[in-house]
Amino acid sequence: METYARITGWGKYLPSRVLTNDDLSKMLDTSDEWIRTRTGIRERRIAADDETASTMATPASRRALEVAGLSPEDLDLIIVATCTPDGIFPSCASLLQNALGATKAAAFDVNAACSGFVYALVTGCQFIQSGAYQNVLVVGSEVYSRIMDWEDRSTCVLFGDGAGAVVLQADDRPTGPMSFVLGSDGSFSNILYVPGPAGARTNHNGHYCLRMAGPEVFRAAVQIMSGSAKKVVSLAGLGISDVDLFIPHQANERLIAAASRALGLPSEKVFINVGRYGNTSAASIPIALCEAVEEDRVHDGDRLVMVGFGGGLSWGAVVLQWGIREDGGFAARVPIAQVNSLR
Ligand code: ACO
Repeated sequence: METYARITGWGKYLPSRVLTNDDLSKMLDTSDEWIRTRTGIRERRIAADDETASTMATPASRRALEVAGLSPEDLDLIIVATCTPDGIFPSCASLLQNALGATKAAAFDVNAACSGFVYALVTGCQFIQSGAYQNVLVVGSEVYSRIMDWEDRSTCVLFGDGAGAVVLQADDRPTGPMSFVLGSDGSFSNILYVPGPAGARTNHNGHYCLRMAGPEVFRAAVQIMSGSAKKVVSLAGLGISDVDLFIPHQANERLIAAASRALGLPSEKVFINVGRYGNTSAASIPIALCEAVEEDRVHDGDRLVMVGFGGGLSWGAVVLQWGIREDGGFAARVPIAQVNSLR
């Protein structure tokens, strides 16, 4: 009998400090009008000094476990998608395991920049579909405020901090991922990167800040989002009109609108919350999914498409059937890895 990976719990955590565009315009040569019209972002959350990716992941995960009706001891595996971990090691996932008291869980981090959550979700599903594990926690948690150059107006206005989590559980009824696409093109590594302490590239002040060629990333992202969404939907045996809700990585409202137009998706089928949180990288999709559920935009049987893209360049898309459908709903069992080429 086939085993499927069902999402049974979801949770999010956003730090309480709000940084508005007007606040930024007092620190930098920028304006609410510029940021809003170019990106749709109005405000973002900034972690307190004592908050980290693991401390933010903890309440998001506790909430997801509560929704799923599981205890931390029930978890077999914890995967955290982050590129702003508390340290190089131990992993954020190990710190989270300890904070939760998930005593029997294995734990590791995934770094695929803003695509990290989709990579982690697909990875968690493989462990369930293979029969190895029953209960897997998948988290995206990021503190980009720590890797911003706060004097660079072209990047620091775009990002924010936060965490989102889902619980995956084994189920013998068709549910969860129907297909996925993961990809990477490291030849674009110079248009979006953060130097690290063990690398050859450091920036002017020895700190490790994000650098981005915005317009180049924008062009690549529209192509990636629409191309990988089309591919993953067709791999699932579906058409774009079968998609109930598109939950893209929340980088920029203009970018999401351009990708949705290219896909022919009406705006009511596209979830956008970037205005309130900015780009929270690997946390953006699980936070958006959690809000979509809380806002009653997701119902049993719905087909969701999630698409992430980011540094690497990397990208990942998944078609996921939420809950159980009367008719089963799976045209074919096709969770096949496909790699898109950007060039
Ligand atoms: N306030 C005011 N002016 C600004 C600001 C700002 N915050 N930032 C840039 N400008 C200026 C520039 O200096 C430039 O001025 P100039 O013409 O005098 O030189 C002008 O605005 C236009 O700059 P562009 O970079 O061409 O602006 P653009 O319209 O392309 O918008 C933006 C920039 C919003 C960054 C856009 O390119 C974008 O969204 N790119 C994609 C970013 C993205 O999605 N990143 C995801 C990263 S995922 C991950 O893995 C981290």
